[in-house]
Amino acid sequence: MLGADPKERIYAPIADDLDTVIANIAGVAETNSHGPPPEIEARLSQVLATPGKRIRPAITLLTSKLWGRIPDERTIKMATAVELLHIASLIHDDTVDSADTRRGHATASNLWGGNIAVLLGDFVFATSATFVCDTNSVRLIRRFAQTIAELSRGELNEILESWSLKTDRERYFQRIYDKTASLFSTSAESGAVLGESDDESAANVREYGYNLGMAYQVLDDLLDYESNPEQLGKPTANDLSNGVLTLPAILALESGEARSEISAYLNSANGDRPQLLEAAYEAICASDALDRSRAIANDYIDAALRNLEPVPESESKEALVQLTGYIRDRQF
Ligand code: FPP
Ligand code: MG
Repeated sequence: MLGADPKERIYAPIADDLDTVIANIAGVAETNSHGPPPEIEARLSQVLATPGKRIRPAITLLTSKLWGRIPDERTIKMATAVELLHIASLIHDDTVDSADTRRGHATASNLWGGNIAVLLGDFVFATSATFVCDTNSVRLIRRFAQTIAELSRGELNEILESWSLKTDRERYFQRIYDKTASLFSTSAESGAVLGESDDESAANVREYGYNLGMAYQVLDDLLDYESNPEQLGKPTANDLSNGVLTLPAILALESGEARSEISAYLNSANGDRPQLLEAAYEAICASDALDRSRAIANDYIDAALRNLEPVPESESKEALVQLTGYIRDRQF
């Protein structure tokens, strides 16, 4: 159904297929002879029901149509797999971050504790792999497995670099590739492969996913500073409060504008942490690091648009162009 949400218009060329993806995801929780027992089913249904932005499966479905093919069963399975992997990684991420809410709802770890949450995440994560196997493409199965390793490496680095001044731009960009752009690029490349593109076009489309994913995460990190918690569905300054330095903090450190405040905060003892967090947050916001972060995100968006230039004109290409605008302008 088309509504006021710009995303719905962008997704119009693949609306029915995206509905099938959502139905596949809901089906993961359903009991069948091999499925989970009812106590697990209820919990799985809950974690699978909260609607996300569905950006990754939309990318797979749209890129598969760029050379005139209609998404087939394998493409829909792949689109299901990338969204399931994303959901699993968020369940794990919320557990690692001890986050209470996501998308305005209580997280699995908040509701049932870390052990249950991790194992629910594992269930979803393993199920995503079975969907990729249904593509019968060793190339895609390999790429998917690499993406899982990259996701885990990104999250590990985020934890290992937290509460220290270790993170510089280079480490940050590697980390956000691992955490986010890897799955975006896999979503895009897999659509191209299943849509029977040639190798050069698939590489271009993968780069589109990479650049869009990098822009997405830079902007996500910026929203952590700029949005209010009601809009975002999670608390503001969450990264900094977890000792995680993202691009705004790194740029403000580099330029020296907030170095003393950030250092004092990272070295703080629990007692004086809230005031020092506030001071570091204010110093970063008062610097020009937020504007400079946005400029970097815009450069990635422009690069993503350039990656689409060689692709033949079509409704799906136009949707992928519009998607860059949606990500650039998103407020939550
Ligand atoms: C959210 O980003 C987190 C990710 C995009 C990746 C998380 C990856 C893992 C936990 C690796 C392990 C996962 C599996 C299934 C092997 P964010 O923390 O920047 O966003 P947020 O502020 O919304 O939490
Ligand atoms: Mg997180």
